[in-house]
Amino acid sequence: MTDILLQVRQLEVVYHRVATAVQGVSLEVPKGSIVALVGTNGAGKTTTLRAISGFLPSEDAEITDGDITYGDRRINGQLPHQMARAGVILVPERDKVFGTLSVEDNLEFAARGGGEITLERVLGYFPLLTQRKSQLAGYLSGGEKQMLAIGMALLCRPTLLLIDELSLGLAPIVIKDLMALLHRISKELGLTVLLVEQNANAALAIADFGYVMEGGRVVFYGKASELISHPDVREFYLGGAAQSETKSYRDIKQYRRKRRWWG
Ligand SMILES: Nc1ncnc2c1ncn2[C@@H]1O[C@H](COP(=O)(O)OP(=O)(O)OP(=O)(O)O)[C@@H](O)[C@H]1O
Ligand SMILES: [Mg+2]
Repeated sequence: MTDILLQVRQLEVVYHRVATAVQGVSLEVPKGSIVALVGTNGAGKTTTLRAISGFLPSEDAEITDGDITYGDRRINGQLPHQMARAGVILVPERDKVFGTLSVEDNLEFAARGGGEITLERVLGYFPLLTQRKSQLAGYLSGGEKQMLAIGMALLCRPTLLLIDELSLGLAPIVIKDLMALLHRISKELGLTVLLVEQNANAALAIADFGYVMEGGRVVFYGKASELISHPDVREFYLGGAAQSETKSYRDIKQYRRKRRWWG
């Protein structure tokens, strides 16, 4: 049997006691694997990561149904510092580094807990950070900031790394290099990764398994290699149509059902 590190069962999350953002989401993250959680704007990806990492209360949101199990512990309602201590480290979409501190100070801050992954090892993965060490983190480019954030996360004793939009705002070539590096880091360190991405192509290319979310639900899941070749996934999430606001897989599915009914 595969060793499952994280299991989410029938998760439901509500913001401000009124708005349901995630409805009945289930997913599994096997130990040592990279799992991609992809989907268009507002699908509920960030909300799912917040539920796992304990960041719902600060957004006035709560888990209203379902279970999250990490290792053998049910972790519903745990707070961010408790999850971080347990090895669940989130690299958030925004505000991932301390902009008014230097690169060096950001790294030293992250390393203060004394994890097994040394600063030398991190700088080995991201040599550019050595060149930029005296620069204020707020003035780094998007790609450099992302490297610093991942470097910091690696210093925080991670067992499960949650990354929200690695590719956001980055040039295609930078995305490709960063994804390849993330894959190498995960395999070399035996690090389990749950990677949230709008860029489904880039994420599925390095993932072992993938989940596609739309409207707060999982609409597809499977081995990443199978999702990449699935015709509907290709049409709606890997091609141009995925980026279109007007076309949604769920709408089209309903349309097809109706057509079948009348036709
Ligand atoms: N802090 C918040 N307060 C209220 N509603 C929120 C909040 N954050 C997200 N939502 C709502 O929850 C739903 C899911 O949003 P979420 O941010 O999880 O989607 P996402 O898949 O991460 O989208 P994106 O790709 O744009 O980052 C959306 O309808 C969004 O408006
Ligand atoms: Mg998001």
